[in-house]
Amino acid sequence: MLPSRSLGRTGLAVSCVGLGGGALGELDATAADRLVGRALDLGVTLFDTARSYGPSEDHLGAALASRASRAIVVTKGGYGADGAADWTPDAIARGVEGARRRLRRDAVDVFLLHSCPRGTLEGSGVVEALVREREAGRVRFAGYSGEGDALAWAAERPEIFDVLECSLGVFDRANEALARAAAERGQGVLAKRPLSNAPWRFAERPERGDVATYWDRMRALGLDPAPLAWDELAVRFAAHAPGVASILVGTASEGHLARAVEGVARGPLPVELAERARGAWEARCGGAPGVI
Ligand SMILES: NC(=O)c1ccc[n+]([C@@H]2O[C@H](COP(=O)([O-])OP(=O)(O)OC[C@H]3O[C@@H](n4cnc5c(N)ncnc54)[C@H](OP(=O)(O)O)[C@@H]3O)[C@@H](O)[C@H]2O)c1
Repeated sequence: MLPSRSLGRTGLAVSCVGLGGGALGELDATAADRLVGRALDLGVTLFDTARSYGPSEDHLGAALASRASRAIVVTKGGYGADGAADWTPDAIARGVEGARRRLRRDAVDVFLLHSCPRGTLEGSGVVEALVREREAGRVRFAGYSGEGDALAWAAERPEIFDVLECSLGVFDRANEALARAAAERGQGVLAKRPLSNAPWRFAERPERGDVATYWDRMRALGLDPAPLAWDELAVRFAAHAPGVASILVGTASEGHLARAVEGVARGPLPVELAERARGAWEARCGGAPGVI
């Protein structure tokens, strides 16, 4: 059975491997339903989605409702709400209403402001609007997903932000200290991009910017993953990083999700490999920012 962990002080228990729902939006309803069903069979009880992931919220809502599942769903917004300008209080109110409808839930478990800059958090009224949604019970817990100074701002306000979602992986270590400190303050920390988009798949530098960034870092590190395969190294590193409640594995593949679950169950990285990975990072990539 896949272990569960407490999502900070929310009281929610979440599986330490979650399904990142970006890919769900690229599948048709039948394939998405099958992937969600397989995830539940593997013991995954946490699903991450967003308004911007195509029909991901709809697919997830339908698949979970048909199984009467009690799984925890995290979604994100601040934009893309019918009849409201993006990043306004109205976009939050209408966005939550739309998410509840698409997810088929009376209340959204966790609603994250999706990667807006710090200035928007401070000056637009969206934070206050999200707190009103939480007070009204339409959102159970509030949070922020993103990087840099906006993430740091949210991390310093645990009374507002119950949950933080940030990049954390073997090629993306900028948030390690933040994750540990936030968890100590009672915030639930979710690691996005836990495989750093699996850059080892590519013989040539990929065109997509985020994957290319990870590919460059992988080559700069010169790390040998032996005795593990790269994917096992990646998921064991991220899932057992201090402070992380769960990793959000972005995959359309039942096999890759099963490998992540099996890998994480083998525990933290062997000490020698963890030390080699840390040494390589500090020597060659220290200071590299989180990938948004
Ligand atoms: N700003 C934000 O809020 C934000 C940004 C990025 C991500 N996220 C969240 O985090 C989730 C994960 O992020 P992500 O998808 O960008 O990154 P990721 O999980 O690090 O990498 C996903 C990629 O790795 C591949 N992969 C997975 N397991 C593999 C394996 N065992 N071997 C080889 N390739 C493998 C997947 O392809 P296959 O489909 O073939 O498995 C996919 O292309 C997203 O779905 C989303 O929920 C949030």
